[in-house]
Amino acid sequence: MGSAELDEFVERVAERTDIYSVVSRYVQLTQKSGRYWGRCPFHNEKTASFSVSADKGLFYCFGCGAGGNVFKFLSLIENITYFEAVKLQAQRLGIDLPAKKSSPEEDRRRREEKTLLKINEFAQDFYHECLIKTARGEVGRKYLTARGITAETIENFKIGYAPEEWENLLPKLTRQGFSPGQLETVGLIAKRKNSPGYYDRFRNRIMIPIADIFGHVVGFGGRVLGSEDDTTPKYLNTPETVLFNKRNLLFGLDKSNRAISTAGAAVVVEGYMDAISLFSAGIKNVVATLGTAFTPEHVKLILRYARKIIFCYDSDEAGQRATIRALPIVQAAGAEVFVITIPDGKDPDEFVRKHGKEEFDALIKNAEPLIDYRMNYVLARADLSMIRGKSQALQEIFPVIEKIDKTSTRNEYLKKIASAFFMDERDVVGAWKKFSSRPAQENTREPAKKFVAKAKTSDKNALRLSTACEDVLRMAWHESDTLGYTLTMVPREFFSEVHREIIAWLETCAEQERRPDKMSAAKELTEAANAELSRILMNGSDSPRNTEVNIFEDSVKILRRAMLNEKYYALLAQAEKYMQSDKATYAKKVEESFKIKKEIDKLQG
Ligand code: UTP
Ligand code: MN
Repeated sequence: MGSAELDEFVERVAERTDIYSVVSRYVQLTQKSGRYWGRCPFHNEKTASFSVSADKGLFYCFGCGAGGNVFKFLSLIENITYFEAVKLQAQRLGIDLPAKKSSPEEDRRRREEKTLLKINEFAQDFYHECLIKTARGEVGRKYLTARGITAETIENFKIGYAPEEWENLLPKLTRQGFSPGQLETVGLIAKRKNSPGYYDRFRNRIMIPIADIFGHVVGFGGRVLGSEDDTTPKYLNTPETVLFNKRNLLFGLDKSNRAISTAGAAVVVEGYMDAISLFSAGIKNVVATLGTAFTPEHVKLILRYARKIIFCYDSDEAGQRATIRALPIVQAAGAEVFVITIPDGKDPDEFVRKHGKEEFDALIKNAEPLIDYRMNYVLARADLSMIRGKSQALQEIFPVIEKIDKTSTRNEYLKKIASAFFMDERDVVGAWKKFSSRPAQENTREPAKKFVAKAKTSDKNALRLSTACEDVLRMAWHESDTLGYTLTMVPREFFSEVHREIIAWLETCAEQERRPDKMSAAKELTEAANAELSRILMNGSDSPRNTEVNIFEDSVKILRRAMLNEKYYALLAQAEKYMQSDKATYAKKVEESFKIKKEIDKLQG
């Protein structure tokens, strides 16, 4: 694209963009003296010093000095380049990109990607036809009917059925001219283990196509008919492929993004079936994660359409724990978070089928704000019959209270706690004062050199870090889906070699859908890793208690902070090298380090 063309494109997007509606997706704004005001998303602040002038098309923060036009805002908040911001906004407005010249390599890649998408679409149609038209599909139709899924819903979500045979899709698609290699790349077939050739991955399953935000089919979730048993997992999903990455995908978002935008909120559920069921019942602003923990990428996806995220996970203990784990991620991203606890029935699907849309709407309306949810979560599990239980519960709640900026709101919560705990308000306030004035746990503001020089601090620090590593590994042993979250927050390079070996092994277990156990650990791990794992497990209880969930979260935070600190100082050191010779690189490094610093400050809470 020529530069004149480019300018024209940027101008066209800018013309049709209203800065208020863009910013208000991310920041709650109120109007005052001709401007909009809100709390700055780029630094931690308690009072609103972030302002938007709609007629000038600019934003500015009087607190941290961040400012610029709407694309600058988008690039900062989405962590993308300026031009990517223009493209993102163009996409939201439905403005086509001007065609650009691409390299042969890019052309080839794009063609290959198109082919892979086409394969998935063929597969989707094949499974769908098989369900609705063939005799073999009868079992699938029966199953779905019994679950109250209508023909209309089947059509809308292009639900399908994969027949029983080992080679069915394979010959059909190769006849269309696709190669087995390509089919394997998208995860539809797999290599046979003991003989040459391939076989269909999905057999005798209800097939749920999973699309990206543009509606391209990128993978499938295949559900067994009836209830699962020990030999087959309930859902078999497309493995990670070039098209399919669970961390970046939300099931249903291609269909629900408009409704999310209109409602200003997204309802996040755990299961495909929950999303399908709610959507069909008329609650259209719904998405589901794909059986993995909620990631920062997921938050970003949703924040493109709305600021409010309403979690509606299963009401069982596992669902509640998953909620608790998701909360800090969305909170860190600055979303407004609410939680629905399904009062009766295990999951949203059951509830909406039993009680209908109106009652579900009421649940949405009465969703608990994040703080209340966390508080009640602790309360419900605290042992209040003993003084020790009470003070322990307080220590768990206070970090939550600490996140509240407004003093008056905080005081209200302290009151609530006092009455819920049957405690004298003055005692609660006293304990709170003591808690909130505790010395900072770690002084990250210190330059790196000092940090290392102080042998004592760094010993203590090293001990805290290694305990934190142990905590997260122990949690991963008990609940394998926490591992993904941990690695999102703390890249594996940060762990020691032995810990990395344990992590890789736990991942293998998860992939093969088996629970890690001590026998196979002894067989499959090196001696050193096995010994370390035993030591780690000995330091915890057999199944994670709720306090351990909190410990786990703190430990992830401690590790992330340390990791970011390391990165921050490395970047500063690099920047220093360029200070004289290369101003542009210097500036880039400094800017990168600022971004990291910002996150460190956020984590500091
Ligand atoms: P659920 O068991 O809640 O699934 O798991 P569901 O969608 O409500 O299914 P029904 O109602 O029992 O038919 C939540 C999600 O976890 C993932 C899937 O993404 C599922 O939707 N999951 C679950 C798997 O990937 N594999 C499994 O074996 C089980
Ligand atoms: Mn379900």
